[in-house]
Amino acid sequence: MNAPVVAKTKPFYKELKKGRSYLWCSCGQSKRQPFCDYSHVGTAFEPVTYVGQYDGEEVLFCGCKQTGTGPFCDGAHNNILGGYRDDDPNSPENLLIPLVTEMDAARKMLDGGCYVFSTTDADYQSEGNLRHTVVISEAQGAQYQSQFYAELESGLSPVMSFGDRHVVLLISEGSGQVVIGGQSFDVNATDGIYVRPGESFVIQSADAALKTFISACPAAPEMMFTEQPSSTFEADWPQRVISVDPEKRHSMAARFFQMLVDKTIGSTVATQFIGHIPFSKAEPHRHLYEESLIVLTGKGCFWTDSLKTNVKAGDVIFLPRKVRHSFEATDEHGMDVAGVIYPGDNPSINY
Ligand code: FES
Repeated sequence: MNAPVVAKTKPFYKELKKGRSYLWCSCGQSKRQPFCDYSHVGTAFEPVTYVGQYDGEEVLFCGCKQTGTGPFCDGAHNNILGGYRDDDPNSPENLLIPLVTEMDAARKMLDGGCYVFSTTDADYQSEGNLRHTVVISEAQGAQYQSQFYAELESGLSPVMSFGDRHVVLLISEGSGQVVIGGQSFDVNATDGIYVRPGESFVIQSADAALKTFISACPAAPEMMFTEQPSSTFEADWPQRVISVDPEKRHSMAARFFQMLVDKTIGSTVATQFIGHIPFSKAEPHRHLYEESLIVLTGKGCFWTDSLKTNVKAGDVIFLPRKVRHSFEATDEHGMDVAGVIYPGDNPSINY
């Protein structure tokens, strides 16, 4: 036996006890999945021990046995046969799910605190030449991240500073510069930008308006401006702007994504990615992280268990942890999206 047996094409969700040892089956032959029953004896496989860190620790033990980060799922199951399935939006059960069209303060509410926020229907505030609105905050049910949308008509923005939070920006339209602690970076649409705790920043538009989504993690209640820019720039982490590069794509069945801001450039708290969803509907699934998803191009439908709603470019989906959902691209060209997940560093892990 050279290759492990696929015990299940999805991970196993478990809640652990502090100090208890869990022996994960790596060969896939155990009848006590995801745990070892010594079926591996006589093979080259060995179980992997994990000790629970605290009561109620939530983990996803790999079921497909293809993970590179055993005992935990790393998303490898998405690329095995049956690991990432499509769903039929016109199945009898799906046709019974009603479409939400009504808005509550620019939000269309779905199940479990999930909502779709429309930047075109939002109320805005102004700070100098920066028009901004709250997309995600604790007041709207978020536990970990906040997100703001801002439009800079021209010139230099006021100085923004989110204290000791990690800040992740996505330029959705326009080009210009972001200046972080006195260091200037050229930015263009679809670039991801990382601002470290304690640093302040300004944005500057080249000519036309520059539009950006600003995520602060942990959550900030509102946009934060300062009269006194900080000169702090953590030079140990010099790379702050990450652009789309097709060479850096990861496949997830027919979908693909690229990491923008992640731990490789020092962001250990929030993770940002950009991806493409082809004309299809994914099978419903969950994540252990809280997620925001910005629709950059195309249109689609976002589904939770008992409700669904249409989405278009400029909308943001807020998805709490563990809410079952699926994303459908309804346009033949598919959709481009950008997401921020927290806590977590791998957007391909689902169960
Ligand atoms: S279940 Fe094996 S990598 Fe996800």
